[in-house]
Amino acid sequence: MTSRCILQTALLVYFSTTVLAVNYDLLRFQLSSSSVECQNLLLQLNGTTKDCIKDRMNFKFPEEIEKPQQVQKEALLLVTLDIFQKTSDIFRKNLSSTGWNEIIVNNLLEKIHWQIEHLEEILEKIKEEENFTWDDRTLLPLKRYYLRIVRYLKAKVYSICAWKIVRAEMLRSFFFLDKFTNYLPN
Ligand SMILES: *[C@@H]1O[C@H](CO)[C@@H](O)[C@H](O)[C@H]1NC(C)=O
Ligand SMILES: *[C@@H]1O[C@H](CO)[C@@H](O)[C@H](O)[C@H]1NC(C)=O
Ligand SMILES: *[C@@H]1O[C@H](CO)[C@@H](O)[C@H](O)[C@H]1NC(C)=O
Repeated sequence: MTSRCILQTALLVYFSTTVLAVNYDLLRFQLSSSSVECQNLLLQLNGTTKDCIKDRMNFKFPEEIEKPQQVQKEALLLVTLDIFQKTSDIFRKNLSSTGWNEIIVNNLLEKIHWQIEHLEEILEKIKEEENFTWDDRTLLPLKRYYLRIVRYLKAKVYSICAWKIVRAEMLRSFFFLDKFTNYLPN
């Protein structure tokens, strides 16, 4: 009983004193690699959109994220986390029309899952270190963007063309994400 208590205290002290400072150089590199890997996996899912002109759609990727000069690093990480989470939600929807290689889809989901866990840990650390307060409105444009995509897929009954268009859009979003993470501090 007592020794367990001591152990817990020791662990607590350990974790509260070694809350390692976040290495942003490493994080930037790692996020960029992840977004490139996700792009590569998305590229391996076959299907060009050239026969799907009538299904084309402008989902309007949020401008704030295309041009993120103003964003604080905590917001930047939350936006990044949200992009990974929403992408994962989308690729868990009805893919039956696509004939996509399940191994590639699963690799994509696993990659994203790993990244989400890693980012959540880092955000926990930052929260402990910095006591930041956070404005939920920052994620609103992104929320609307993904809602448009989800509604579109549903409206198109998860057709093969709808998925090809959405896959192309997800590629675009990871391309922006790669640029976006460059704005992390040094
Ligand atoms: C991808 O390739 C498979 C196998 O050739 C095919 O059945 C499927 O329709 C293709 N999917 C897309 C989205 O083009
Ligand atoms: C966190 O920040 C809030 C608002 O700035 C402040 O009131 C609070 O005392 C801070 N808490 C800690 C543990 O620093
Ligand atoms: C899944 O997508 C296929 C192909 O578009 C469609 O026929 C089917 O009804 C969908 N299933 C569900 C549960 O939405």
